[in-house]
Amino acid sequence: MPHTPPHWFLLGAGNMGTLAAWYLTLAGHRVTVIRSESASPLKKTLWLPDGRQQAVSLPVLTPSALPDRIGHLLVAIKTPYTRSAMAPLRQRLDSQTQVLRFQNGLGALDSLLPPGCIPLEAITTSAVKGQHPDHTVVAENATWLGGSTAPPAWFAALTEHWPDLHWEDDIRPRQWHKLVANAVINPLTALYDVPNGRINDDPALRKQATQLCEEADHVLQQLDPAWPGHSLENVLTVARATASNTSSMRADRQRGAQTEIDAINGWLVKQADQLDLAVPANRKMVTALTLR
Ligand code: PAF
Repeated sequence: MPHTPPHWFLLGAGNMGTLAAWYLTLAGHRVTVIRSESASPLKKTLWLPDGRQQAVSLPVLTPSALPDRIGHLLVAIKTPYTRSAMAPLRQRLDSQTQVLRFQNGLGALDSLLPPGCIPLEAITTSAVKGQHPDHTVVAENATWLGGSTAPPAWFAALTEHWPDLHWEDDIRPRQWHKLVANAVINPLTALYDVPNGRINDDPALRKQATQLCEEADHVLQQLDPAWPGHSLENVLTVARATASNTSSMRADRQRGAQTEIDAINGWLVKQADQLDLAVPANRKMVTALTLR
């Protein structure tokens, strides 16, 4: 029996949220943005890698106008704003709600979801830059969705519209690989205001990168002895492949916005504290990049 494509409510119509909304719309899903500021539709332009320009118009509801029940929630909001954005939604989520988290780092939704709802995670290597209303897709690469369930009914049809989309039964290794890359590249590029490639080229930065990475691997190995460690080569490959890019944390800092340091290095420091491990380089990054 053909399934009815879901109606997603989207928190965070930034770069990744807009790209995801575009693919979902192509597959016939409805996407409504939740914004407390205003209910005017968001009219955006998505610049695709082949140079095409795509108009994207997304309806908006303020939290008070939302339906009593939300069946599908896409969380693509920057991690520091997650808790306050989720507050008006909690009583609208139930044990059947699918919550797809499309964020950097880990832990931003911890303790914010009602028991029993269905958490799904997205990890992408695509890159989008810009600011509302213009979003430029710099690289359209693979994206993995996963969770503790079988792929949802809508997943197979979505792969026809979302390029290079895959289901991953065990999404954690991909999350951890991305976490380590973010924990090294993002704070260093933000703190020193340099493009990603400098991590490879500058010996002093590379030394700091090595320490951040070794600490991260050590924590992850304590959490799961099967973690292979030795992530530095992978991190340097990401930095090389995105050499001229501005990392998301550098961009946040340049705008004077809060960074996602808490969900990235902060998450590692929290785990280290619980395990009684020393992670001085990561702790230093959290201190240096926390807005006061
Ligand atoms: O957050 C980011 O900017 C990216 O995920 C990456 C590739 C690690 C750094 O640009």
